[in-house]
Amino acid sequence: MTTAASHAQGLGEENSIWFKLAPLLRGDPENPMRILMHMTDRYGPVIPVNLANQRIVFISEPEYFKHVLVTKVDNYVKYFDGLKPIFGKSMITNDGALWQKIRMPQQPAFHPDMFAEYIPYFIKAIQAKMDIWAKLAKSGETFEMVEQTWTLAADMICKALFDRDMPFNPHVVFKCVKTYTDVMNHRDIRLRMQAGEVFELSQEDAAKAVEAWVSVPPSVIAANPREDRERTLLKLIEDAVADPNVPEFDRQQGLDEIKQYLWAGTETTALTLAWALYEVSRKPEMAERIRAESVAVFGDREPTAADYSALAYTRAIIQETMRVYPPVWGLIRVATKDDVIGGKEIKAGDRVTLFAYGAHHNPKFWPEPEEFRPERWMGGAAKKQVKYSYIPFGAGKRSCIGGAMSQVENTLALSILLRRFRPEYAGLDPARINATVTLTPKGGLPFRIRELS
Ligand code: HEM
Repeated sequence: MTTAASHAQGLGEENSIWFKLAPLLRGDPENPMRILMHMTDRYGPVIPVNLANQRIVFISEPEYFKHVLVTKVDNYVKYFDGLKPIFGKSMITNDGALWQKIRMPQQPAFHPDMFAEYIPYFIKAIQAKMDIWAKLAKSGETFEMVEQTWTLAADMICKALFDRDMPFNPHVVFKCVKTYTDVMNHRDIRLRMQAGEVFELSQEDAAKAVEAWVSVPPSVIAANPREDRERTLLKLIEDAVADPNVPEFDRQQGLDEIKQYLWAGTETTALTLAWALYEVSRKPEMAERIRAESVAVFGDREPTAADYSALAYTRAIIQETMRVYPPVWGLIRVATKDDVIGGKEIKAGDRVTLFAYGAHHNPKFWPEPEEFRPERWMGGAAKKQVKYSYIPFGAGKRSCIGGAMSQVENTLALSILLRRFRPEYAGLDPARINATVTLTPKGGLPFRIRELS
């Protein structure tokens, strides 16, 4: 068996937490999250599940999220089995001193002061997307929204953080990534292989997927800079690779960091924008309010960082979208020490799953949690929220490096795109949910688009 094929099975191996969760998640074809919610209702906020050679502990209470992610963060390490082909040895997979050494040199690129510099490049990417949408509006064809928002998110990262025009075909590349992260599919593959069946994803396909993904970072580095800007994330990565004081940050580390951004920083952002468009396309009054806000805040000029701050309603739509559809629906850690959480014993080696979706949909913290209500985020309302009941970006020192920036990207994109277009959702109502490593729409989010006169 080739290495690529064995990677392809990594997520679906019997020892993998994804493999163990998959049968559970399949029980509800409309929304697999509901099964986990029922489990929580029935058995409480800390549920140890004993399996043959290992335990999964399922946690859904905000104060215990804090315990794992903040108070005892060093006793719970990252879990990345099966995702190595995607992330390599990038920062997101590391722990302890090594993680700190890798994150520190890159942190300045995500300081909020940098957002004003990035905004013109986000807007260039949004304008390029509007050219494509103008053609889609003209043809009247149905298209897949997540593909559209994913390419937009990737273009924004390439332009703003790498000073490059996207030097790869995002449709091909991201299809490869999904090959690995569609957990349910991996399980199928494994079972079919056991039964001696020919499986859908051939070893050659898997090898090609790895090859395509691995070729992306060198293509980013080799592409011509757009403007030779000095302050970019790519420059910080190159400086770290060249710094003899950080030998751990070698060339491969640099390539893996780029891979990490092109997945962790794009799929999540793209899913959020696509789900937001799905919600507002079904609630025209929300779309109208977003348009009115854009007219009032930036009129006919390009929005700036100050305008972003003033787009309170549009930003609230993005925040509410991440509550209802948290792209990372569960955060996984491995306990390195014995512990007690909520009166239940945690043993070293346990896989601890923090069920973010469960907290986001718990009526204890969110009245009428299934209602999409941006007002929860407006005025003083957000101050009343229970701490750690909303963790779309994780929490504590390992929280998302790009979370604040993604909100700038998505708020501006939603504001500018809706100003010119009316996206019309053309799929099943309501959309079905699929739990891969991320929370994705099952079968996608088909849309048609109209240009507003
Ligand atoms: C809606 C958009 C996003 C969501 C929902 C999201 C979610 C998350 C979450 C939940 C984590 C923590 C995972 C854990 O603790 O196990 C994380 C980490 C991370 N995210 Fe994001 N993310 C988003 C956007 C971005 C963007 C735009 C970037 C960069 C361009 C980015 C880069 C990263 C990196 C590098 C880490 C690892 C940080 C570390 O380990 O120190 N993410 N993200």
